[in-house]
Amino acid sequence: QGAVRYEAENAVISRGVAESNHAGFSGTGFVNYDNAAGSYVQWTVNAAAAGAATLRVRYANGTTTGRPMDIAVNGATAAAGVAFDGTGAWTTWQTRTLTVNLNAGTNTVRATATTAGGGPNVDYIEIQR
Ligand code: GCU
Repeated sequence: QGAVRYEAENAVISRGVAESNHAGFSGTGFVNYDNAAGSYVQWTVNAAAAGAATLRVRYANGTTTGRPMDIAVNGATAAAGVAFDGTGAWTTWQTRTLTVNLNAGTNTVRATATTAGGGPNVDYIEIQR
């Protein structure tokens, strides 16, 4: 299985909004998280088999303050306080790469802001096995 992309604007958004006013995104836009701890985007991803996968999160943060997020898979924290530091501009997109464990079949991946600034702008996640 190659990389499968899941757009943030098509995911479940809690306290955030899909927008398209900063260029360079994939798909039809990105998610602008509300500036609040607890705001999240949750994707449903499919895995042919259980095991480790590479998770990439594409984001932009036009501030100079980090926007850390917890990454949960199937409701359990897989990585806490993952840094999403400033990228220099809201139009400058970067990718964070993590390793997560997936179940066979359907999984949820949730990226939850942990500080009052909320999350960065998130374009998509990719799952690579
Ligand atoms: C600006 C920017 C948004 C961003 C927001 C933020 O308003 O245009 O795209 O999400 O700042 O600080 O979260």
